[in-house]
Amino acid sequence: MSAPLHLGLIGLGRMGQVHARILARQLERARLIAVADVDGERASLTAERLGIPHWHDNPAGLLARSDLQAVYIAAPSHTHPELVEAAAQAGKDIFCEKPLALTLAETDRALAAIARAGVRLQLGFMRRTQPDYLRLKMAVRSGELGRPVLFRSTQRDLDAPPPSFCDPAVSGGIFVDMGIHEFDLARWLFDDEIRMVQAMGSALVFPALAAVGDLDNACANLQFRGGAVGTVDLSRNARYGEDIRTEVVGSLGGMFVGALPPVSPLGRDPDAVVDDQYRPESQAFVNALLDGGELPATGADSRAGLAVALAARESARTGKTILLE
Ligand SMILES: NC(=O)c1ccc[n+]([C@@H]2O[C@H](COP(=O)([O-])OP(=O)(O)OC[C@H]3O[C@@H](n4cnc5c(N)ncnc54)[C@H](O)[C@@H]3O)[C@@H](O)[C@H]2O)c1
Repeated sequence: MSAPLHLGLIGLGRMGQVHARILARQLERARLIAVADVDGERASLTAERLGIPHWHDNPAGLLARSDLQAVYIAAPSHTHPELVEAAAQAGKDIFCEKPLALTLAETDRALAAIARAGVRLQLGFMRRTQPDYLRLKMAVRSGELGRPVLFRSTQRDLDAPPPSFCDPAVSGGIFVDMGIHEFDLARWLFDDEIRMVQAMGSALVFPALAAVGDLDNACANLQFRGGAVGTVDLSRNARYGEDIRTEVVGSLGGMFVGALPPVSPLGRDPDAVVDDQYRPESQAFVNALLDGGELPATGADSRAGLAVALAARESARTGKTILLE
C-alpha cells in the first residue's frame, strides 16, 4: 500500500468548496494538506471547518510547500494559465478545473509548461468518470447502439452566477464556461472531433449578463468529422431544477443519461448529491498518480473542447457557420 498522496487546493469559491469537502474527507489514498485563496479569511475558515492543517492567502505560498505532490486549481478560469505554469514549475502534478485557459494560445503555452516540467495534468471534465456516463460510453464503444449518428445534450442551471463571474473575460462566457462540458462529452462519446458549428444565444432573463457581454440561453448545432450530428442547449434559468441530460442515437438503438428534475432523492443532503458527481474524477486522479494509470481527461481534451466553444461563441456573434481546422 503506497503512502497517501499529499494535495493542495487553490481557489475556494463555489467549486473550490466542493473540492475541499471531497479532498478533505471523502477520498481514499489522499490527504488535503493545504488550501489557498486570495481571500485569506475564506482560506482560514475553510481550513478550520474541514480540519485542513495549513492555509495560505496566496497561491505562491502554497506552491512553495515541499510537502505537496499535487495541486488542484479551482480559481476563476482566466487565472488558470498562470497558476498552471507556476504549479508545473514547482514540480506539482495538477488537477485544473475547466477550461485550462480562455484562448488556444494560452492553452498551448500552459501545455508547453506542463511538458517542460514533466508533470501530469487532469482537467475537470467530471462526467467522464460518473458511472451513468461511463455506461453510455461503453454502450457506444461496444457497438451495442450501432454507429453513433446523433448526439443531444442539455445543461441547464437553476440560476446564473454573478455577472462578475460570467464576464467572458473571466469565465469565457456561456459556450466556454458551460458548453465546454457538452462539447467534451460529444468528442469523448463519439470518439470523433467536431468539424462544424452553428450557434445562437440571447440574454433575456438576466439583463446584467447582457451588460457584461454574456448570454443566458444558448444552443449549438454540431457536425462531427465522420458525419454524425449533434445539438447542445444551455440555460442559466432552469427554475424547475438543475437539468443535465445526454442522449446518443445510433443506427441500432439509443441511450439516455440523466433524469427530469428533481434529480436529488428527497431529503438527501444537497451537498452530498453534488459530492457524488465530483468525487469519482478526484479518486481517478489520485489513483492514476499513485498507480501510474491513464488520466480521464487531459489538457489536449480541454484544447479541443475550447476550440469548439470558441467557434460556437463566434458563430453566435456573427450568425455564421464556423468550420474548425
Ligand atoms: N466542473 C464544473 O462543473 C465546474 C462548476 C463550477 C465552476 N467550475 C470551474 O471552477 C473554477 C472556479 O469557479 P467558481 O464558480 O468556484 O468561482 P468563484 O468565483 O465562486 O470562486 C473563485 C475563488 O477563487 C479565488 N481566487 C481568485 N483569484 C485567485 C488566485 N489568483 N489565486 C487563488 N485564489 C483566487 C476567489 O477569491 C474565490 O474564492 C472556474 O474555472 C470554473 O470554470 C467548474
